[in-house]
Amino acid sequence: MKIISGPASKDLAEAVSTLTGYQNVPVVTKIFPDGESYIRIDGDIQNEEVAIIQTTCPPTQDSRLLQLAFLADSARRAGAIKVTAIVPYLAYARQDKMFLAGEGISIETIARMLKAVGTDELLTVNIHSEHSLTQFPLPTKTVSAIPLIADYFIKKGYKGAYALSPDKGAMYIAQQAQAVLGGDAGHLNKTRDRYTGQTVQTAECLNIKDKNVIILDDIISTGGTIVGAAKILREKGAKHVLCGCVHGLLIGNAEKRILDAGVEEIVGTDSVPGAVSKVSLAPLISQTLKGAQ
Ligand code: R5P
Repeated sequence: MKIISGPASKDLAEAVSTLTGYQNVPVVTKIFPDGESYIRIDGDIQNEEVAIIQTTCPPTQDSRLLQLAFLADSARRAGAIKVTAIVPYLAYARQDKMFLAGEGISIETIARMLKAVGTDELLTVNIHSEHSLTQFPLPTKTVSAIPLIADYFIKKGYKGAYALSPDKGAMYIAQQAQAVLGGDAGHLNKTRDRYTGQTVQTAECLNIKDKNVIILDDIISTGGTIVGAAKILREKGAKHVLCGCVHGLLIGNAEKRILDAGVEEIVGTDSVPGAVSKVSLAPLISQTLKGAQ
């Protein structure tokens, strides 16, 4: 197998290549004067199985998706015998159903596009809803980075911390963290107005007084969910409040808002390279790739 280093995940691809021993094939990119993307795989992949590593996080998720499609198509044309797309953050995964009449299901559109350009299988990390993968017209797998994030907190001295998910649907995330942290786990309840996007969070029977609490979520976007959760935790007397997420999009001033709300540290992964990407997905992706060989 060879690793094709997508322009949005160069460092991660290099780390995976080092851990697996699979050769890292570089990619040449440029932007034409009219704004269109040029992309070229700079190595021999004839008769090879390839894994393209390309995250599709903001702020340029649409062009990153297109680059991924161009790379899959180029890999096929260059003679690759199997193309695996490794997309740590898969854009549009939250539009996984028609919430309102007239909408599409964006993630299914992306899935069909990836299939059409010659992708044989997809590996992603903590997709928002695993159910959406059942609608993909190609084999898929999602793996969880939550144990790695929990492990980061253990190393920082938070063994036994309370793992909290900000809504009931993400309770499995809190439970995955709990299995590593060894403390209790629980969830808040969250409802969202589908027109305004406004959310309301509530807590029932949450016993976290004087405890260290780690709020865990798959995605932080505007930060509103974490800010709301932190407020509740402070009111209920939590000792230290921290947060871990797989995909720290941190749109606008989200990071500042979360820290201002009393969260002492934000920890994310390199699915979204940036200020909080303190946990690398390289071991998880490498292990998954090796396991599939
Ligand atoms: C939604 O259910 C997700 O799991 C996250 O909780 C959500 O995307 C976070 O968004 P925001 O940071 O804008 O509140």
